[in-house]
Amino acid sequence: MAETITITDNRTGESIEVPLVDGTVAAKAWSGLLPGVWFDDPSFSATSGADSAITYLDGGAGLLRYRGYPIEQLAQSTSFLEVAHLLVRGELPDGPQLKTWKSEIAEAAPIHENFHKRILEGFRDDAHAMGVLVSSIAAMSTFWPDSKNIEDPDQRRDEIVRLIAKMPTVAASAYRRSEGLPYVLPDPDLDYTSNFLTMMFKTGDSPYVVDPVLRDAMDMLFVLHADHEQNCSTTTARVVGSAHADPYVTVSAAASALYGPRHGGANEAVLRMLTEIGEYGNVDSFMEGVKAGEQKLMGFGHRVYKNYDPRARIVKDTAHRVFDVTGTNPLLDIALKLEEVALADPYFIDRKLYPNVDFYSGLIYQSMGFPVEMFTVLFTIGRTPGWLAHWDEMLTQNSRIARPRQRYTGPADRDVPAIDER
Ligand code: ACO
Repeated sequence: MAETITITDNRTGESIEVPLVDGTVAAKAWSGLLPGVWFDDPSFSATSGADSAITYLDGGAGLLRYRGYPIEQLAQSTSFLEVAHLLVRGELPDGPQLKTWKSEIAEAAPIHENFHKRILEGFRDDAHAMGVLVSSIAAMSTFWPDSKNIEDPDQRRDEIVRLIAKMPTVAASAYRRSEGLPYVLPDPDLDYTSNFLTMMFKTGDSPYVVDPVLRDAMDMLFVLHADHEQNCSTTTARVVGSAHADPYVTVSAAASALYGPRHGGANEAVLRMLTEIGEYGNVDSFMEGVKAGEQKLMGFGHRVYKNYDPRARIVKDTAHRVFDVTGTNPLLDIALKLEEVALADPYFIDRKLYPNVDFYSGLIYQSMGFPVEMFTVLFTIGRTPGWLAHWDEMLTQNSRIARPRQRYTGPADRDVPAIDER
């Protein structure tokens, strides 16, 4: 028997029966009975904003799958570029497809010389790397004006390749500019992540040798960050894209949302929090402050996960492998103690607050030599294929422009007073 919901308008006695499909009722059916009555849901916690075939997430069970594949298997046995292909093209590439995909990306990695000279050089020396990245992605729109042709699938395909390819180049350049270091051009003979690490950390003329453990850890962190269905930044991408904005400004808007400390900016905020706590012995008093509402435990909690974030578990395991190469991060003990205290405390248990993906990732990034300002930039590189997959999917769905309603709470109709009467 089909599952349905019946809604009755008690003002008129009229009823309507609407189907329940995949746990969702179409708002259009409700509004057929109730024109002018809006759902009040400012944070969209009870609203489905998309039909999507990209990522499946069950927050209660702690499950995450990209196009049906469990995140644990993808993290274990696929590279970031394979996962990017899965997200934006629908399937994991076979051998020949992967070869073509890698060379398409490698060829598109360089950025225009004017980009370095005129755009990156224009920022203040102490500009935050995320501010530089967000503005730079938007500026890329002016270098590829044809990208506005968003209805052409071939054009979209080209822009998707460009954005995935150029993101590490822009990210590494933003870092080197802030350090006053010369830019390192992308090397098409290197794999995606080795190339990024080389553009970041190469000094002088001698070749930069990438440690395979650190490369694999970085690549896997990109995989873990690649998509997460309708989070704040991805929904931003779909909303901005629904206005038929070009993909550069769309991705720039998504990256701006990610920059916030409640979202992707949490990895930076966690590191600052751990540094501020400073000592193992300060954990208990810090946690008392959290419970008293004085501050949040950054890297904990999630709108959807009410169980351990499966990505956090993988990141935590990876941290130990990285620390075998780099030496232990002294802040790790504080993080472990915070987690232990939180998971045993009724405040966190009752609210189902667990570590999220950002809790341990910053410790790894710091040990690999990234400054805290780069942490959310790293998240941006990883999330770019996800944003683009959603943007492309949304445009193939004949979506309407995003335009919610509001509940007006301001003054009633009134006359404009003369200036001396205000
Ligand atoms: N520390 C302490 N208390 C918390 C935390 C936290 N990190 N997160 C939620 N709570 C509390 C809230 O204060 C609230 O308590 P109350 O019921 O007594 O008022 C309760 O738990 C429910 O939390 P909400 O605010 O309703 O959770 P929401 O879904 O709106 O917010 C969010 C989710 C933004 C992630 C929140 O948990 C948070 O701010 N966490 C810290 C920042 C963070 O780590 N963000 C990264 C998320 S993952 C990502 O975006 C990549």
